Amino acid sequence: MVKTAILGYGTVGSGVYEVLKKNKDVISGKLGEEIQVKYVLDLREFEGDPVQDVLVHDMNLILDDPEVQIVCETMGGEHPAYDFTKSALERGKSVCTSNKELVEKHGPELIKIAEKHQCSYLFEASVGGGIPIIRPLRTSLAQEEILSITGILNGTTNYILTKMETEGLAFDTVLARAQEKGYAEKNPDADILGYDACRKISILTSLAYGKKVDFQDITTEGITAITDIDFAYAKKMGATIKLFAKSVKKNGKYYAIVAPFMVKPENPLYAVKGVFNAILVNANMGGETMYYGKGAGKLATASAVVADVLDCARHIGKHLDIKWEDERLEISPIDGAVRKFFVRVSLTDEEQIKKVFGEVEMFTGVAKGECGFVTEEMTEAAYRERAAKFDNVLSMIRVD
Ligand code: HSE
Repeated sequence: MVKTAILGYGTVGSGVYEVLKKNKDVISGKLGEEIQVKYVLDLREFEGDPVQDVLVHDMNLILDDPEVQIVCETMGGEHPAYDFTKSALERGKSVCTSNKELVEKHGPELIKIAEKHQCSYLFEASVGGGIPIIRPLRTSLAQEEILSITGILNGTTNYILTKMETEGLAFDTVLARAQEKGYAEKNPDADILGYDACRKISILTSLAYGKKVDFQDITTEGITAITDIDFAYAKKMGATIKLFAKSVKKNGKYYAIVAPFMVKPENPLYAVKGVFNAILVNANMGGETMYYGKGAGKLATASAVVADVLDCARHIGKHLDIKWEDERLEISPIDGAVRKFFVRVSLTDEEQIKKVFGEVEMFTGVAKGECGFVTEEMTEAAYRERAAKFDNVLSMIRVD
């Protein structure tokens, strides 16, 4: 029997407890032995909940118990999760986590500590909730050179954009409804400004290339400026608008961005609706693979934590390596990234537009006193230089 402890009995922690209980037979059938939750650490009491039997308030009880070989860190936040994780790894206990913040900030250091103490630090649930993406990058795609990763990595914004598209509603209206239903946080900034997706693509890019990506190097734009008129243009173009978190390796340089993109139906990410997430990986030998599922939610996220627990249970006393050096991966300025741009301007003079932008595809008659157009491919720097020649640019959305 393998004994585990769960740190934090919130949404994900209670989900881990539930997955381990409900799927006890499935898990022991596949693993060949049982996984028992010996402790759940939380400051609160849970009267009437069976978890009360294993509830403890002192982390030292877990650290000092040699029977506990795997710890699930589902507390979230940096402290005390960092200290607890470090202490557990230093005692040779593997840690499986859903804590994206901790992974993004301290991943390489915690992996090194795990290596030194012959245990593992696994974090499948930290990106894309229940979607297997870390393990595929670490194992199935380890032989590949990753050319690009494009993700819809935030369920809240994908839900909002989907509702704006299907119901023709304004951003503020959909956000307010999403908050009422509990789909969006009371303070939704981390989601709608793109920061959550930015942390996630920074983790995936780090794993793809084995070096640390600083999330502050990633150009990040949220969805707050997207309007119902933008969606009317998207419809006319036969496209939709998605918040993409994207990293690309091109000519030996690395580019990364989080921003809304115009997406055509040919792109498999076009079909990802509502709170669902998906990640499209383009590799140099096998080509495209896509990973789709619930990017958040109690049982989906918990299931990914438990998958890591099983992996650790199969490798007790061994280190499952994840190549992620502390050395910084240099992300090139976004100025050099090449793509098409959809632009809205408050004028309708096609000649004037063509004089500045060259060949463009025009879209008229969507809203009064303006038009939209899609440029040819050009660098971000070239786009900005040209757009600066107009004082009537209403909005710009990158085209995938
Ligand atoms: N707030 C996130 C989302 C879930 O909406 O996808 C946790 O990462």
